Amino acid sequence: MSISTNAKVIGLENVRFAWQANSEPTLIIDELAIERGEHVFIKGPSGCGKSTLLSLLTGINHTQSGNVTVLGHDLTGLNGRQRDLFRAEHIGYIFQQFNLLPYLNVLENVTLPCQFSAKRRQRVDGDLNHQARQLLKRLHLPETCIDKPVVTLSIGQQQRVAAARALIGQPPLIIADEPTSSLDYDNRSAFIELLQEQVSQADATLLFVSHDPTLEPLFDRTIALADINQAGRVS
Ligand SMILES: Nc1ncnc2c1ncn2[C@@H]1O[C@H](COP(=O)(O)OP(=O)(O)OP(=O)(O)O)[C@@H](O)[C@H]1O
Ligand SMILES: [Mg+2]
Repeated sequence: MSISTNAKVIGLENVRFAWQANSEPTLIIDELAIERGEHVFIKGPSGCGKSTLLSLLTGINHTQSGNVTVLGHDLTGLNGRQRDLFRAEHIGYIFQQFNLLPYLNVLENVTLPCQFSAKRRQRVDGDLNHQARQLLKRLHLPETCIDKPVVTLSIGQQQRVAAARALIGQPPLIIADEPTSSLDYDNRSAFIELLQEQVSQADATLLFVSHDPTLEPLFDRTIALADINQAGRVS
């Protein structure tokens, strides 16, 4: 799957999404555009739909009406398998609840996107396991954790495994859902430094959801989701 070189990396038009067919919509967004290379901070109160929005952008869920275009691909035109491949190839996604595979060890979790996508594997410079170890080292994960099942790690350690998995293979789009929520100050700083380095190396676009206002000044632009989401508004 090739990616478009259009300046627009993300485009939403007339999107409406409800979790159940007959329930009130969680998202009604007329328009949203994000340009290539932008670093965007997304904020909003708990429950306003931030993670739901990310699930549409990453093809985990699909909109009931309207269009979602990511890296030049209309996601509404792809089936589930194609969306999974698209995500593995092009998107580094740090899920709010990590979504690590419990039966795999740390190294296997980090390298997983490169097992799904040959193109992502090709973007790794040199040995895949070495690259995974380097990312984990930069995130201060102890060497002794590498071969352990992820479920035996602390929550903050698991969050760093999820971060390394998102960064491996230099995806052109990085989407992070509260990626520092379980990290202490030093680990948070190490992560932000690595994230910025990787994003600039890959000339990637970054969407970063957080409740931490101290991080907001690090970004080019802020989107307050409640300002663009008409769901739940009384007209
Ligand atoms: N899997 C799901 N099934 C049904 N409803 C859901 C599901 N996930 C979220 N919702 C509902 O969608 C709404 C938005 O939830 P979402 O998780 O997107 O909020 P959020 O802005 O990410 O909140 P937080 O800051 O707490 O992470 C909530 O009303 C929630 O109950
Ligand atoms: Mg959320």
